[in-house]
Amino acid sequence: MTLDELEIKCRECTKCGLCEGRTNLVFGEGKKDADIMLIGEGPGENEDLQGRPFVGRSGQLLDKFLASVDLSREKNVYIANMVKCRPPKNRDPKPEEQDVCINWLREQFKIIRPKIIICVGRISAQRLIDKDFRVTKEHGVFYERNGVLMMGTYHPAAILRNPNNKELAFADWLAVRDKINELGIII
Ligand code: URA
Repeated sequence: MTLDELEIKCRECTKCGLCEGRTNLVFGEGKKDADIMLIGEGPGENEDLQGRPFVGRSGQLLDKFLASVDLSREKNVYIANMVKCRPPKNRDPKPEEQDVCINWLREQFKIIRPKIIICVGRISAQRLIDKDFRVTKEHGVFYERNGVLMMGTYHPAAILRNPNNKELAFADWLAVRDKINELGIII
């Protein structure tokens, strides 16, 4: 199956209650065989309206971080979320919603086959790296999970709330760049 075929199937999904509130499902976007995959939390209001990940204020900041290390969704990364439909009032996605939606993410992963996964924020880091993951303590650290390198970093929304963390987050993106170079990944 191609990513486009998977997306068509996914758009019909009604496997959890989040489907009831969605304007658009946010499947993900970016390079279809990217070596770098980003996984956020879930769509917010703008994402729900546009059907695209990280297009609000957080997304603009994320794009800036990416651009600062020569990465972008147009060129070399793929961006998705733990859940594909907006949780009401932007609450955290519930574990049972993630349990259902992660199957779509797994299928995306199998097609894209990234070498590095960046968990953007606590929700995806706790689900994909370690259930006790603490962003303040473990951001920027690479872990290997089933042959894939994974790292968790600050969610841009957290940086907008507390700009003091901007330098720390920037250092994480520089570490991604170093890891890309170290592995000899051509992007
Ligand atoms: N926050 C996320 O985690 N994902 C989005 O797509 C937008 C905001």
